[in-house]
Amino acid sequence: MNQDTPAVGAPRPRIEGRLKVTGAATYAADVPVPDLAHGWLVTATVSRGRIRDLDVSAALAMPGVLGVLDHRNAPRLNPKAGGFFGPDGSLQLLQDDEIPYAGRPVALVVAETPEQASAAAAAVRVTYDVEPHDLDFRLGHPATRPASTAFGPEADTGDLEAELAASAVVVEERYRTPEESHCAMEPHAATTWWDGDDLHVLDSNQGAFSVSEVLAALWSVDRERVHVRSEHVGGGFGGKGPCGPQVILGSMAARAFGRPVRVALTRAQVFETTSSRPPTDQLMTIGADADGRLRAIHHRAAYALSPLAEYIEWCTEQAKILYTAPAIRTQLTAVPLDVLPPASMRGPGATPGSFALESAMDELAERLDLDPLELRLRNEPTVTPATGRPFSTRRLVSCLREGSRRFGWAARDRRPRSRREGPLLIGTGLAATSFSAGVFPSTASITAEADGTFTVAIGASDIGTGARTALTAVAADALGVGTERIRLHLGDSDLGMAWGAGGSRGTTSWSFAIGKAAAELRARLADPVRPVTATVDTTTMIDYQPARERQTYSAVFAEVAVDPATGEVRVRRLLGMFAVGRVINPLLARSQVVGGMIMGLSMALHEESVRDPGTGRQANGDFAGYHIAAHADVPDVEAEFVPDYEPQDPLGLNGLGEIGTAGTAAAIANAVWHATGRRQRTLPIRLDRVL
Ligand code: MOS
Repeated sequence: MNQDTPAVGAPRPRIEGRLKVTGAATYAADVPVPDLAHGWLVTATVSRGRIRDLDVSAALAMPGVLGVLDHRNAPRLNPKAGGFFGPDGSLQLLQDDEIPYAGRPVALVVAETPEQASAAAAAVRVTYDVEPHDLDFRLGHPATRPASTAFGPEADTGDLEAELAASAVVVEERYRTPEESHCAMEPHAATTWWDGDDLHVLDSNQGAFSVSEVLAALWSVDRERVHVRSEHVGGGFGGKGPCGPQVILGSMAARAFGRPVRVALTRAQVFETTSSRPPTDQLMTIGADADGRLRAIHHRAAYALSPLAEYIEWCTEQAKILYTAPAIRTQLTAVPLDVLPPASMRGPGATPGSFALESAMDELAERLDLDPLELRLRNEPTVTPATGRPFSTRRLVSCLREGSRRFGWAARDRRPRSRREGPLLIGTGLAATSFSAGVFPSTASITAEADGTFTVAIGASDIGTGARTALTAVAADALGVGTERIRLHLGDSDLGMAWGAGGSRGTTSWSFAIGKAAAELRARLADPVRPVTATVDTTTMIDYQPARERQTYSAVFAEVAVDPATGEVRVRRLLGMFAVGRVINPLLARSQVVGGMIMGLSMALHEESVRDPGTGRQANGDFAGYHIAAHADVPDVEAEFVPDYEPQDPLGLNGLGEIGTAGTAAAIANAVWHATGRRQRTLPIRLDRVL
């Protein structure tokens, strides 16, 4: 009856792997639905203004067209709907004639087939009263305001000015990262229908429960009447965290036309209508003694956002955590502009923020003529530098030392341009980083079935990470049975409140709930007067701010070859050492952090959303123009985990969804400097910036 070996810790392939590679797994736009109609978006071509005229007469006369929804006839949505930050104007589609950003949906054409809807959408004529837009993002823009401190206060410890004045060396440099677009493999899609006041949705998202909450608010119906299912999701990276335009518009059309409606975004529509990582502009000032002990860190950062919705790109967090210094000040600012409302992209805040911090640390090491690894080791804190809070597990030094050993860092000559292979310049670089960890409330239900199996239900999301496989192992161990006796259900808002696949907190949050439900169920099953079939619902409520600073850590090492004739940068080696708490499944965990590092490589060398200054529209909103790393760009990436255990978690878990992306761009930029002697303070590292 009992399992012989624990499932947690074993390298098991994805349970649904075969379904996915044989095409049997069904995604949001794959499920056949009778009487289905199809919606196609029409989007704004200007960045600011009002709709003067929207002529749908030609579209309505086209074959198969059922109708067109726009601001004049669309169902009204509750203007107060939103989320954590309150009302969110980015959800209020087709509610008025205002254009707040290029790409804003202005109409939805509904027809019998997607081809008919697409053809008719092209026939909708929209004219605008154009107003001047502002996309001129930069640090110190006149519209700058302090960022929300809802994720945590700014740091302001010690006497910054005095410590900088007393420093033997001060590095002050400005770093810029561009707007980046979300490029999950599966474009956003939703199939929606109404059954009376019950709204049914098959959607591609990162959290069925939170999407059901937003939809319930938008439609002013009880949350229980909104049923969101997301059985398989082809990637998210943060871009499928929000309730997307495909669901909002689809549910409006299903209501208006009384039929099931599917809205599947094209790749170009994903670029222009979903969300992006905002650009950042960061000024980093670090002062140190001649022996490399830091005296002061001053991190000023700005990011762009839309006035429609609050958003925090938390660039300054690592400056409060990674290195000890008597004075630390962080100042995070937001610049409201006429831009596509941003949303989290993998490693939000930490990814652009660590590019600035870890590049500046490398510049400081250069100025001190000190090994950049040694500089970091000399500034390892004993308590959280900005707050004095004790750390929970902190294995950054282990990551740095073990990574350095595997990478062969000790043999490095730290002078730039010191290594050549034929015409190529070779360089190596490193970066350290941290990413916050924790647990959010979730509900799990476990039923002991009469046949000896267990049905485990949790509103978790498997966005391709292998969450289904990991949670099956967690449930098996918690119940003391083999994984073959676990039947796991996820991706369904009817399963109750659950945190989404985001914030690197999915697996920790869901595992906590499953563990608690399993313990309760086992206690009940041990009671002879109770029946053998029992269901337990557990909603876990955990302190958002644990007693000890809870973070994951990594050290990333990169080797690049630069062709000085063309400026071409090739990453030849990438090695990441990670401390992420206990690892549930080394196969899936490695896949997650390797994917994260590839995304960081892509950020370093390729990704950049370019906007036409005249219209504000994205000039490269497709895969021809928006470059992401392809296989030929990716070397053999090594990723390993140092032994780690989070004492504040019942299973010792922390999280690893995002940390792979943070740090990688700085390691590559530092390697490019080492190869060429030229600093890369603006991403991506394009050919023209290398030469
Ligand atoms: Mo993640 S960027 O928290 O989906």
